[in-house]
Amino acid sequence: MIGLAGYEAAVLSALGLTEESVPWTRWAKAYERLSVALTEDRRNVLAKQASGHLGGDDARAVAALVFGARSFAIAQAVFAAYPPGQGGFVELGAGCGPVGLVAALLGHEVELRDVAASGLELAPNIFRAAGAATPKTSVGPSEGLAGSGFGGIALAYSLNEMMARAGADSRVVGAWLSRWLEQLAPGGRLYLFEPGTKEQSQRLQGLRDAWRAHVLAPCPQRTLPCPLQARDWCHFTWAHDPGPVTQRLAQMTRRDAASLRFSWLVLQAEPVCERGSGAARLLELRYPDKHRATGMLCSSQGAVIRLTALKRDRESYEHLVRLRPGSVVEADEAGLEAKGDGLRLSTPGALRIVSQL
Ligand SMILES: C[S@@+](CC[C@H](N)C(=O)[O-])C[C@H]1O[C@@H](n2cnc3c(N)ncnc32)[C@H](O)[C@@H]1O
Repeated sequence: MIGLAGYEAAVLSALGLTEESVPWTRWAKAYERLSVALTEDRRNVLAKQASGHLGGDDARAVAALVFGARSFAIAQAVFAAYPPGQGGFVELGAGCGPVGLVAALLGHEVELRDVAASGLELAPNIFRAAGAATPKTSVGPSEGLAGSGFGGIALAYSLNEMMARAGADSRVVGAWLSRWLEQLAPGGRLYLFEPGTKEQSQRLQGLRDAWRAHVLAPCPQRTLPCPLQARDWCHFTWAHDPGPVTQRLAQMTRRDAASLRFSWLVLQAEPVCERGSGAARLLELRYPDKHRATGMLCSSQGAVIRLTALKRDRESYEHLVRLRPGSVVEADEAGLEAKGDGLRLSTPGALRIVSQL
């Protein structure tokens, strides 16, 4: 499997460019506009797209190279923990198909579908340069996906845009989701990745609660309502080490390319096997002061737990801060003390890693 520098090299090759021939100033402008637009309400993005504000070819190149790399990185980690089932794989709202590319590199036959042709046109050359089999592409709405027996269907950063285009409420989206789940083979999975902004993450959580799907990840509490929905939002922030072109564009525009913040759901048609009741997912690490780190955990009982380790308990502290948000852990109550509104980790062995994301 290629890394992020390899992904960038494949996109540059598909564009017929090398690092030396990148139009840096134009791409930096496109990067700035797109990164602002992608965290805004989708209706603003659609209006900006329609008015040409985001910029044609430069926006397409930057979307594939910088933002496609983010979807590629998330898909690599999520598929390692929750792989697609047997069968073909479809990316809907695919753009140049970064999630489909991960599936293709894992050996799935891939179909990419999008209402716009521009990203799809780049995809065959990106896949070839990355060493993957050529994907099938189709121009059309995600709602109109034909076929069945898929091992995986993914929507990366596209469900919110679909909803805005269609003016769809949660009932309509529920019908789309039900239809895609019906199109999966037994054991197939539906992947939704969205930005980790408050509004968009809350919308994803709201859909999950309204729709009561079989949630494989990230929610350990499965069918209980999301404990964060009322006052907080579920998002995951990872260190991100993009390729050299993104790093240079980020320096030119003073934007943060070193972290990746997103929200996600993996759904399936069949009920999910229950985990041990002690399993919890690490949502994020906080550093309230220089003496401690606090892991915010979502438990299988539908509660948010604060687990703190003090720096002076060096081994426990290092054990906690080494965890990547998204990892599933199991805690042994004997090694935890109740302190304030949370728990204190005093022995590293009390926190067992079930799976790293
Ligand atoms: C932000 S891009 C994401 C592209 C790609 N999945 C990625 O992760 O880089 C959103 C894509 O969704 C597409 N899109 C929006 N509404 C759609 C719909 N109803 N059906 C299919 N594609 C749609 C857009 O054309 C755009 O290419």
